[in-house]
Amino acid sequence: DTKRFFTDCLMTWNRFQNTRTMPWKGEKNPYRIWLSEIILQQTRVEQGWPYYERFISAYPTVEKLAAAPDEEVFRLWQGLGYYARCKNMLAAARTIAGAYKGQFPQTYEGITKLKGVGAYTAAAIASFAFSLPHAVLDGNVYRVLARYFGIDTPTDTTPGKKLFTQLAGEVLHREQPGEYNQAIMDFGAVVCKPQQPACKSCPLAARCEAFQKGLTDLVPVKSKK
Ligand code: ADE
Repeated sequence: DTKRFFTDCLMTWNRFQNTRTMPWKGEKNPYRIWLSEIILQQTRVEQGWPYYERFISAYPTVEKLAAAPDEEVFRLWQGLGYYARCKNMLAAARTIAGAYKGQFPQTYEGITKLKGVGAYTAAAIASFAFSLPHAVLDGNVYRVLARYFGIDTPTDTTPGKKLFTQLAGEVLHREQPGEYNQAIMDFGAVVCKPQQPACKSCPLAARCEAFQKGLTDLVPVKSKK
C-alpha cells in the first residue's frame, strides 16, 4: 500500500542512492550522537560540522566534557549562538558523568529527561544509538510527509502536530529505525528540498500526492498566526 511503498522506497533510496556523508552518520556512540544533535538543533549541517569535529577532538568522552571549565566550552561554542543550548549541554554532560556514572540513559524516557533534549533529539538518539522505534519529526520530515501524503493541515498547529506525529510513527521502519530516520532526513535535504525539489529523479514521485497534483510549492502548509 501507500505507506508500505513510502517506507520501502526511502530505505532503498538510502541504501543505493544516498551519497550524503556527515561525520555523525552511522555513529552508534550515544555521546557523539547526542553532541551532534545538540549542535544541529538550531544550526545548519555545514555550519555545525566543524564544531562537531572540534568538540569531539577536545572532549572525546562525556566525562571530558563534564570536567571542562564553562569558559573553555563557551569559547568552543562561539559562533553557534543560543548559549542556553551550550549551558544545557554542559548540565546534561555533568548529570551523565556524575549521577549516571558516565552511563548514557538507554531508554527514550531517560533520554528526554536530559536538559536540552526534547522529543526530536530524544528520538534521534534512541533510534541511532539504541535502535529504538521512535520517529524523528523535524522540518525535513514534515515536508516529505506532507507532500507525499498530500496533507494540507498546517504543521504548526495542535491538530497538525498530532496528525504528523501519528503518521511518522506509522511509516517508521520498526526493525531499522535509525537507518530510516537518517534516510528521511537526508531525503528531505537532498531530494525533497524546500525549493526546487528533485521530483524528476524522485523514487516516490509516482505516488506522491503533491507532485501528482502540482502542489509541491504549496505543501507543507504553515498557519500564518
Ligand atoms: N539535523 C539534525 N540531525 C541531523 C542528522 N542526524 N542528519 C542530518 N541532519 C540533521
